[in-house]
Amino acid sequence: MALSGLLLVSYVGFHMLGNLQVFEGAHALNGYAAFLRDMPILLWTARIGLLSLAVLHIVLAIRLTLRNRRARPVAYAVREYRQASFASRTMAASGLVLLLFIIFHLLHLTAGVIDPSFADRLDAEGYRDVYGEIVHAFQNPFIAALYLAGQLGLGLHLSHAVTSSLQTLGLEHAAFNRFFKTAGPTVALVVVLGNVAIILAVFLRIVRG
Ligand code: HEM
Repeated sequence: MALSGLLLVSYVGFHMLGNLQVFEGAHALNGYAAFLRDMPILLWTARIGLLSLAVLHIVLAIRLTLRNRRARPVAYAVREYRQASFASRTMAASGLVLLLFIIFHLLHLTAGVIDPSFADRLDAEGYRDVYGEIVHAFQNPFIAALYLAGQLGLGLHLSHAVTSSLQTLGLEHAAFNRFFKTAGPTVALVVVLGNVAIILAVFLRIVRG
């Protein structure tokens, strides 16, 4: 779970960095999207790899939850948390929100099913107009709110997951423990801030078509 999770996190980080090119304009973002799509072997290897990692991650999460439940079939009479953070106690819920967000996101921007009006438009240079699609999407308050809700799930999930994965992989050392503890919340904050900046910049018309 830890390894598949960390690989997925690195995708989310690179995806956010790529999408930040929306601030450089249509030429930069559409050129970048075309560059990724122009390498079908690499694109499909990455897609199949990502999908396999996500399925593996979810199957292992379900197995781990069932094993935990079996280890303690009788619920605690009193629940008083001393160590467990809110993010760690809500991993299943934030994971589910994230999964629903990803399904919606793929139907929306990859498959163009949610809003087909913009899906196959080309820009002046003949590239697929991903920039126009994003601007069109986040000007809609309903879509912007759904994406912001997805970021809440993403932030909560990453903030516990990254720290916990580093522990699982045995990266514990007195000298670095503070770094490992803050790694999760820091990664979560950076990724969520990057994504939220894109959504709000479009919604507030700082970035426009
Ligand atoms: C503001 C936030 C985001 C924006 C603007 C955005 C934008 C996009 C766009 C434009 C595409 C389609 C690319 C193409 O078809 O050429 C895409 C695909 C995708 N996005 Fe996002 N995304 C965001 C957040 C996320 C997050 C948080 C995740 C995962 C947790 C994610 C996962 C994916 C995946 C798995 C794909 C499919 C990649 C593929 O088709 O090869 N995205 N995104």
